[in-house]
Amino acid sequence: MSDTRANKRFRSQEWFDNPNNPGMTALYVERYQNQAFTREELQGEKPIIGIANTGSDLAPCNKIHVFLMDRIKAGIREAGGIPMEFPVHPIQETGKRPTAALDRNLAYLSLVEVLHGYPIDGVVLTTGCDKTTPAMLMGAATVDIPAIGLNGGPMLDGWWKGKRAGSGTIVWESRRLLAEGKIDYEEFMGRVCSSAPSLGHCNTMGTASTMNAMSEALGMTLTGSSAIPAPFRERMAMAYETGQRIVEMVYEDLKPSDILTREAFENAIVVNSAIGGSTNAPPHLQAIARHAGVELNVKDWETIGFDVPLLVNMQPAGEYLGESFFRAGGVPAVMGELMSAGRLHAGAMTATGNNVGVNLAGCDSLDTEVIKRYDAPMRRNAGFKVLSGNLFDSALMKTSVISEDFRKRFLSEPGNEGVFEARAVVFEGPEDYHDRINDESLGIDERTVLFIRNVGCVGYPGSAEVVNMQPPDALIKAGITHLPTVGDGRQSGTSESPSILNASPESVVGGGLAFLQTGDRVRLDLNASRMDALVSDEDWAARQAAWEAPEIVSQTPWEEIYRTHVGQLGDGGCLELATAYQRIAKDLPRDNH
Ligand code: FES
Ligand code: MG
Repeated sequence: MSDTRANKRFRSQEWFDNPNNPGMTALYVERYQNQAFTREELQGEKPIIGIANTGSDLAPCNKIHVFLMDRIKAGIREAGGIPMEFPVHPIQETGKRPTAALDRNLAYLSLVEVLHGYPIDGVVLTTGCDKTTPAMLMGAATVDIPAIGLNGGPMLDGWWKGKRAGSGTIVWESRRLLAEGKIDYEEFMGRVCSSAPSLGHCNTMGTASTMNAMSEALGMTLTGSSAIPAPFRERMAMAYETGQRIVEMVYEDLKPSDILTREAFENAIVVNSAIGGSTNAPPHLQAIARHAGVELNVKDWETIGFDVPLLVNMQPAGEYLGESFFRAGGVPAVMGELMSAGRLHAGAMTATGNNVGVNLAGCDSLDTEVIKRYDAPMRRNAGFKVLSGNLFDSALMKTSVISEDFRKRFLSEPGNEGVFEARAVVFEGPEDYHDRINDESLGIDERTVLFIRNVGCVGYPGSAEVVNMQPPDALIKAGITHLPTVGDGRQSGTSESPSILNASPESVVGGGLAFLQTGDRVRLDLNASRMDALVSDEDWAARQAAWEAPEIVSQTPWEEIYRTHVGQLGDGGCLELATAYQRIAKDLPRDNH
């Protein structure tokens, strides 16, 4: 036994080996003993390692974890720990109505209760599909016991008629082709289904790959963990090594609070710009930071991240998919490029027990077609703009997906580049949008900005991915594939639309979007990071005074609880009261009998 292992008393021993309360100890031991564990194991001074399993039949993006469990457990046992797997409330992006975002905070709450209330000394957080990663990291941050992330990895690359077919991204492309009449419904289904050829999460740089890259950039996984495709042998090896490592982390008492520092979040923001990451990353990282007690402001995404170049040539901002990204070196290659350019805090501690600088020594791009060098990027200044004005206090725009065509049409007025003025058309939600988008009386032309409201955290509830609205069919047929779109909801991380989204505060709580009317002129000024309705202060104040909050009808008890306590996307969409509970593992819960 090494010195670090001698005389270590674990949290779990308060359950299984507490001589001050033999009655309770016996009660705890007898029922865990009756399944698979011997008394010697439970009382044998070995750490109990929880494994939060986010995979199930209802959560196919994370289903691979069901098959990785054996390897995680083998690693834990090998290193001298006792694994105890437990289920996590499913959060399937493509299955849960009204939106999986509603359940991020529910899975978070549930994980907090499990980690706090059970005899667990450290935890492996299995992640994958979009909201599973933030939910797990938020819970680990609140409880603050040693924790390490392991994602399931992306699916293999999809292919359709000799071209890469990326998850989600192909849906947005195919629905335009369908609207143009270039493909029929059968081909539409064939194209979309071809993008999902194996177990794993989305193979594009959508929210799943982004958030798993964020987990690695924050230092919460082993180096190189996030990009390995789900079916690859390296994924199984990583599961085993992650299981081994968490046991050491328990002995070292290396906790989320040691890793999730301000420096770690700044690193993650820089990495997000370089990978062309999802607009969902800001609310999720804001939420993790708040539960970790780290100051992070939505404006930091522009201040720290905007001038970072886009290095990763992966859909939706580029061309390739997950297999190529992995072969080009994955997140360590991107971070290696950024570190050499002096863009990362190399001293930030990570789950490996080493800092970022040590982990990344010698890492750089193995294929510069897929991961570019820092000084020869896909594009410069590729981070988010964080806009404000009379319509919202904050809203995001992902500049790495602004296409040349979009820039030319909307942002290239000679002498006035980056500024766009147009007429607003306002939809009250996705149903209203679908009903009316092709209504010619709305007069939607290429000088129109489409707005959608009532789709934020409280309004939807959960905040829906609906802001990337497609133009009317007639405009698409005329070659206008994108109009500027704005809303208080979100959009899929797989979307290539440069929408202005996550507007906070949302309209149903009285945010500025509530007072906008179809026909108003609006002005976007990217140079000043502003968007405003061009309505006089007097008129605006009158509309505000006349406004009545819409009636909100919840369909489930959780929806009502969520709506009562949720904050705005700009602040992470957290359950506000939960952010006051920090590092709670230090106080043991009371005995249960
Ligand atoms: Fe689950 Fe994309 S839908 S990862
Ligand atoms: Mg989505």
